[in-house]
Amino acid sequence: MKRRNFIKKASVSGLGLVAVSSTLISCEETKKDEKVVAAVNIKPIRPLVIATWNTPLAVETAAKVLEKGGSVLDAVEQGCRIEEANEEGMSVGKGGLPDRDGDVTLDACIMNEKGDYGAVLGVKNIKHVISVARKVMEDTPHVMLVAEGAEQFAVSKGFKRENLLTEKAKKAWEKWKITSEYKPIINIENHDTIGMLAIDKNGDISGACTTSGLAYKMAGRVGDSPIIGGGLFVDNEIGGASATGLGEEVLKTVGSFLIVELMRQGKTPQQACEEAIGRIVNKPGKDFKNFQVGYIAVNKQGETGAYSIHEHFSYNLFKEGENKNMPSDFFNKV
Ligand code: GLY
Repeated sequence: MKRRNFIKKASVSGLGLVAVSSTLISCEETKKDEKVVAAVNIKPIRPLVIATWNTPLAVETAAKVLEKGGSVLDAVEQGCRIEEANEEGMSVGKGGLPDRDGDVTLDACIMNEKGDYGAVLGVKNIKHVISVARKVMEDTPHVMLVAEGAEQFAVSKGFKRENLLTEKAKKAWEKWKITSEYKPIINIENHDTIGMLAIDKNGDISGACTTSGLAYKMAGRVGDSPIIGGGLFVDNEIGGASATGLGEEVLKTVGSFLIVELMRQGKTPQQACEEAIGRIVNKPGKDFKNFQVGYIAVNKQGETGAYSIHEHFSYNLFKEGENKNMPSDFFNKV
């Protein structure tokens, strides 16, 4: 194997090797010209939690689960439940904006460190769909349940039915109906889906993603959030990625899976997120002015990345005992 390739593979597989030279020379090339390559141990950053948008309480909750020795899957589930219960947030869980007929329908998925996956799509009347997704993963032979089937399954597991349409969301929907012409709102600035990735002290990774989807969507519309490789993907050997924003664009490029595969090929999480956004905005004739997509990613070493099409995407990051909201870099600088 060429030395260049060995270094790349070793670094990605977590051996902690880094090249100090910018130009690595293969073994076939002359010893005289060979540059020095140092092998040092880099301590991975663990535990770590990263989540889309300004979600400090959700991230703190997940971090506390990890600090108390809880599982990484519990961490992302508990973190996401905070936003699902937050009635002020109008894009996740209770309080989420409804579809154009006034029904709040929720989507969620979860992945554990073994690569198992569970999802629910288009669920009415159940707030904590992230926990229902986990039950699908753990207690059924399936990976996805939709609509009434998912709701019935949730109730059979002890989840309570409740009205998810808050007064605030109802008022917003009634206002939208006056002038909307029944077009969904594609919002480039505000809080949207929560996607969360966490690594525990052993280096195991899990992820979760939950949303009420596009505001005033057509009844039955589902975006990227509950779809494996779209809104979320985790590979415990490599890292994880999650998406927010216009799900149709994420799905057309299988964004989260793409990011993890790019990291497998040696890209940093930041480079991988930027390339995934590039796959959307660089399509010939693509008019990306009026929609937003944002990605977060983490690799096995605890390096993170975030990138969006437009300004105003941010993410919360817990590492080395600190939980901070950070602005993401973005593509559209004009
Ligand atoms: N990213 C959320 C959705 O498009 O449904």
